[in-house]
Amino acid sequence: MNPEEIRKEFPIFSERPELVYLDSAATSQKPGTVIEKISSFYSSKNANVGRGLYRLAGEATVEYQRARSEVADFIGAESDEVIFLRNTTEATNLLASSLDLDGDIVLSEMAHHSEQLPWRRKAEREGLEIKYIPTKDKKLDMEAAKDIIDEDTALVSISHISNVFGVENPVEELADIAHENDALISVDGAQSVPRKPVDVKDMDVDFLSFSGHKMLAPNGIGCLYGRKDILKDMEPYQVGGGMIRTVKKDEVEWEEVPEKFEAGTPNVAGAVGLAEAISYLDEIGMDEVYRHDRELAEKARSELENIQGVDVLAPKDEEISVVSFTMNFAHPHDIAEILNQENVAVRAGHHCAQPQMEKIGISGTTRVSPYIYNTEEDISKFIEAVKKVKSVFG
Ligand SMILES: Cc1ncc(COP(=O)(O)O)c(C=O)c1O
Repeated sequence: MNPEEIRKEFPIFSERPELVYLDSAATSQKPGTVIEKISSFYSSKNANVGRGLYRLAGEATVEYQRARSEVADFIGAESDEVIFLRNTTEATNLLASSLDLDGDIVLSEMAHHSEQLPWRRKAEREGLEIKYIPTKDKKLDMEAAKDIIDEDTALVSISHISNVFGVENPVEELADIAHENDALISVDGAQSVPRKPVDVKDMDVDFLSFSGHKMLAPNGIGCLYGRKDILKDMEPYQVGGGMIRTVKKDEVEWEEVPEKFEAGTPNVAGAVGLAEAISYLDEIGMDEVYRHDRELAEKARSELENIQGVDVLAPKDEEISVVSFTMNFAHPHDIAEILNQENVAVRAGHHCAQPQMEKIGISGTTRVSPYIYNTEEDISKFIEAVKKVKSVFG
């Protein structure tokens, strides 16, 4: 893969040639092909789906269902195991609302708020217990995990790649531990599905959620994968049009999965855009995407580690995809502001993981998250800008 060439296919970098965009963990930029696909859907295929009998509605429905099967192929699932939603947050809210649990919920300390809060609310409402797998040396404490996940556990919910530490959690091993204890496992793939090959059957997970906007697709489209036998028995998350088979005044029969979980008019153009984004990533190859992102993250990490006063928050012995750091002489917001003056866009703050920040005794970090359109030169510009921060505050 050639990031210099890839970059040319993203209109934002022609509009803003000076931009060093290193905040793809927050949201990715969009290639021209995805922007054009959405525009062409609205220009030539737009109609509501699953309702109209005319030709145009039929074509829109075919596009929507084709998008679903392309997303399913991308993660090794069947089409009817993929539910289109707005984003990872909505996927977890669906699960926490609709999944019947009779036992403890196991989360990790590093979980994103969007993963923690829906489960915490469910636990409060239903009198379930939440247990946390601790973080040790910036990674999941697997010894503790083996003790915490036991026969009282009903569900383990875990991030695949941490948006704070960039570390990859051993989901296959956690899936084995969960299943040995007759518990389910749900994986937050918000940071992994955009960055590495992910196959739900190989990982043997019961649920996987992710957001299109972090993987070249538009905002407002995301997915929940769920094992069909479990989804089939779950109650719908929202009710309304498009998700019923029959409604009488005193009776209602739901549609089959996945329509049962997609009440109201869906984001059809978003789904079509997501399928186009997937074609783009497939063309590069997810192994290459993974290698490239890690290579740039490792370059950023090793160069940051050479700057005195900088602390990189990552396990010493593991490769990472996203780099969080602190500087003992400057606040993350000040760092991000000086980087901004150098046209380097990074994220600063608690990264929606406040309990994790509290545990390690900091209010936030500065985070660098490279993606397919970033080059080694971007990392060098970022490092030069960090040195400027040091010269101002250090
Ligand atoms: C690990 C992780 N989970 C969940 C989310 C939430 O994603 P969204 O805001 O698209 O729902 C994010 C977003 O940054 C994330 O990094």
